[in-house]
This record gives sequence, C-alpha cells and structure tokens, in this order.
Amino acid sequence: PSPLLVDGFGRRARDLRISLSQACTLRCHYCMPAEGLPLLPREELLSTAEVIRLVDVAVGTLGVEEVRLTGGEPLVRGDLELIVAGIRSRHRDLPIALTTNAIGLARRAAGLAHAGLSRVNISLDTVDRELFAAVTRRDRLDDVIAGVDAAVAAGLAPVKINAVLLPETLSRAAELLAWCRDRGVFLRFIEAMPLDADRAWSAETMVTAADLLDELGATMALTPVGRDDPSAPAALWEVDGGPYRVGIIASMTRSFCGTCDRTRITAQGRVRPCLFSDDEIDLAAVLRSGGTDTELADAWRAVTRRKGAGHADVAEVSAPQRTMGAIGG
Ligand code: GTP
Ligand code: 5AD
Ligand code: SF4
Repeated sequence: PSPLLVDGFGRRARDLRISLSQACTLRCHYCMPAEGLPLLPREELLSTAEVIRLVDVAVGTLGVEEVRLTGGEPLVRGDLELIVAGIRSRHRDLPIALTTNAIGLARRAAGLAHAGLSRVNISLDTVDRELFAAVTRRDRLDDVIAGVDAAVAAGLAPVKINAVLLPETLSRAAELLAWCRDRGVFLRFIEAMPLDADRAWSAETMVTAADLLDELGATMALTPVGRDDPSAPAALWEVDGGPYRVGIIASMTRSFCGTCDRTRITAQGRVRPCLFSDDEIDLAAVLRSGGTDTELADAWRAVTRRKGAGHADVAEVSAPQRTMGAIGG
C-alpha cells in the first residue's frame, strides 16, 4: 500500500486544510447561524504545538504539498503567527496559505508575512456597504478593505478574493470585479453550497456559474482560458481581452470531485476527507493518547481510503451534519 494519502478512487491528497477555530467575527448567512456556532472549550481546539505536529506528519510522512489555515476565522487565534512560524521553521519551502475574512488583518498582515505565510484568500462578497452588512450581519466592510490593502502591501501574493454567489449581490458582480481589478487582486466567484447553518440553501434559488456569466456578459467580454492546473477549483475567464482574469468555482454545477486533492482537519482535530461527508476520524484523540507519527499517519490513511467519489451534479448533493463554519471550507 502507498505510504501517501490515497483514496479508493486513486486520488492523492496533496492539499491539507486545517481549521483553527469555529468562531468568527462575521455571521455570513450562507455559513453561520445569527448567534454563531457554540464556543468550543479551549482544550478541545488543537493547540499551537498540535497543529505543528499534524502538519509535520502530513508533510513528512503523507506527502502533503501545501497547507491552508482556515476557520471559522483563523485570525481569532492569537497564536496564528506562532503556528505559521512553527510550520515554516520545519518546512522551508512549503506553501502556507490562509483563508480569512480579513477582519484584523490590517494589523497582522506584515507580521504573518514575516512569520512565513505565503499567501491569503479573503472572503468578500460585495463592496456595497449596506449589502455587505446584510450578508454578513455585521457592518465591517471598512475593516475588510483595510485587510485586503494590508495583505497586498505585505506581499502575501497572490491575494485572492472569494465571493459567494448570492441572489442579492448578483447585480453588483461587475462592480466587485472592477474593484478587484483596480487593486490588482484576483477574484473568484463561488457557487453557494448546502453548508449553511440556517439550512436555507436550495437548488432552485442558488445562483449558478451560468447565471453569473449572463450577468457579467451584459457589460464585458469573457473568454474561457481553462484552469491553472487540473485540480484547481476555479475555471478562469479572461476579461475584455485580458490580461485580467476572473475565476469561477462551480462546486455545485461543475464539480471538481474527480480531481479532488484535498484532506481536511476540523477545529476539533478530526480528519474529514470530504466537505459533504460526515465520515471523520478523531486524530486529536490519537495524538493526545500518545500516538506515534506512524499511528497518526495510519489513522489518517484509513479514513482517506473510505472517501466517497463525490458528486457529479447538484442533484447528488445533500447537506451534511457539520456546516461550513465547523469544517473550514
Ligand atoms: P487555492 O489554493 O487558492 O485555489 O484555494 P482554495 O480555493 O482551495 O481555497 P479557499 O479556502 O479559498 O476556498 C474557496 C472555495 O472553494 C470555498 O467555497 C471552498 O469551500 C471551496 N472548496 C475548497 N475546497 C473544496 C473541495 O474540496 N470541494 C468543494 N466542493 N469545494 C471546495
Ligand atoms: N458555499 C460556498 N462557499 C462558502 N463559503 C462559506 N460558506 C460557503 C457556502 N455555503 C466560503 C467562504 C470562504 C471559503 C472558505 O468558503 O466565503 O471564502
Ligand atoms: Fe473533494 Fe468532497 Fe469537495 Fe468533491 S465535494 S471536491 S470529493 S471535498
């Protein structure tokens, strides 16, 4: 058997996503309930040292090639810089990325870059202040914009903006695109997935990649230019003859499950091979009972072998128990 992380369909996981918290400073309706997720007791979260140890096993033993720190909101962790620095001190060339809502990033971007962070993806669905407040249930657009600017200034490149496609923001898609293009940041639109805590997602009301192309196509010319690599989630479109490109992550209508290369760890330290399957293994428990690297790697491989094929289209997807804020995207 392969020492690497290979599932029953021959897909190899090279991309590790670790959630550092399920708390968040925003309450986006497609993700969090209005009251937020229950606060996990501190001892249930992975500690600084535990995160670093799991990355060591993933990279050193299982052949993972890139690490992404997510949440909830990873910036709620005061030890984020320590985590990044700890990983970086052991893995000189490993790409370390962060997915964040950018609140508080204005103060921390330079320090994170210094600690060894490679790049950031920032969630921002609209640059209209009132709409932003309605989607996120918090009036904090200015903090996010300051965070985007700080990430660019700190050289955390490429800075990518993630915008979830929503009925209420669709008519402002071209405005967001122009805003990103002016700042020199890359924009990706994402189809909403049934991972919201409110369970309001429906196949009938979701905005699709096709809807977005119709909307943008009214004011600009879009030419498809493929993907950065076959397992990249975003299909790319050149805008008005280039060079600016926009990405579309059609996770529902054009699933990329066939080339999935991800493995995930939840904030409670469980390995979760697929967003849409609640099959998990409690790696933190193995770690805390004194598990060796070999035992950790074996548990990780075992749950990976059980990973499902994924979905081919919207009709095959059903909402899992765990919602986005608790998985980490
Ligand atoms: P890059 O390496 O920059 O391409 O990052 P990424 O797109 O993998 O990560 P990010 O955290 O920015 O996620 C962007 C969107 O893609 C989010 O909505 C994720 O939930 C979604 N996404 C990421 N990985 C998967 C996956 O394995 N399956 C599905 N269906 N969606 C995913
Ligand atoms: N569907 C699609 N994307 C989502 N995100 C959060 N919830 C959903 C959802 N229900 C996005 C966030 C973040 C990324 C990790 O996932 O906007 O950018
Ligand atoms: Fe991978 Fe599951 Fe996402 Fe499909 S739905 S791309 S199998 S994590």
